[in-house]
Order: sequence, then C-alpha cells, then structure tokens
Amino acid sequence: MKVTVNGREVETAPDPCRRLLDFLREDQGLAGTKEGCGKGECGACAVLLDGRLVNSCLVLLGQCEGASVETIEGVAGTALHPVQEAMLQLGAVQCGFCTPGLVMASVALLRENPSPTPAEVRRGIEGNLCRCTGYVKVEAAVLDAARRMREA
Ligand code: FES
Ligand code: FES
Repeated sequence: MKVTVNGREVETAPDPCRRLLDFLREDQGLAGTKEGCGKGECGACAVLLDGRLVNSCLVLLGQCEGASVETIEGVAGTALHPVQEAMLQLGAVQCGFCTPGLVMASVALLRENPSPTPAEVRRGIEGNLCRCTGYVKVEAAVLDAARRMREA
C-alpha cells in the first residue's frame, strides 16, 4: 500500500492492523511523534491525516491507504513554523512528550481558524494533556503565532 509521509510517497507492506504510530516511529524513524497513553487520551501521538488532527495510536495503517500524513518532522520547512517560533520565544516549549502533539494541534487549529480567540485556542488543544506544566504559555504562544501568520 502507498501512503504519503511529510510529502514523500512511501510504499509499505500491507499490515492493515499496524498502528499508524508504530509505522511512523518504528518503520519511518519519525520519533518526534510520541506515545503517551496509547489509548487516545493524551494527544502525544497527534499527527495530521489528510489535514485532519488525529491520534495516531488509534489509527490503523489500513485506514491510511492513499492518505497523506504530516508529522512534527514535516511541520517546519527551511525555518521553524511560527507556532514553534512563538513557543520558543514565549517559553511554551514543555517536555518532549506533550510538545510535539501541542504543536500539531496548534498548527491544525491555525490552518482552520487563523484568528482564534483564547477560548478557541483552549478548545483546539484540549485533546493534548500535560499533567505537570500547564497551558497558559502555550495558549499565549498560539495566539502570538496566529498574529505573526496574519501579519506575514
Ligand atoms: S498516545 Fe495516542 S492519545 Fe495518548
Ligand atoms: S506532559 Fe509535557 S510538560 Fe507536562
């Protein structure tokens, strides 16, 4: 079967029951996508599947035939994404488990809604759990990234 990962078409052996998360991390070496809960509750494994935010621990490879997957490794081009820039500058980079998923959720939100309100940002990242640091700086960074992207 064929699946496009970060713009590159990949031919893969048909194991339709393999989790997309394992395919990305183990077969493709894309370890930026993390496994937290493994049951769809934490958002650490968030990626975009045909532009839609999904938890890759709940997606089977068989559901990805012909689809396009974007991971944290594909978000930055030659420069960091504005969400990543804003997170760095506003001190919103948290641990390696929650940050990639928070970036993916924020990128998905801003593609859909370039001018989110604070409440809309909170809703956009509500599927991404952090049990240690919090969300205040992340919210500020996403709002700042939205402003940067509108002004670019
Ligand atoms: S590891 Fe997928 S939602 Fe937690
Ligand atoms: S889970 Fe990453 S900082 Fe809390």
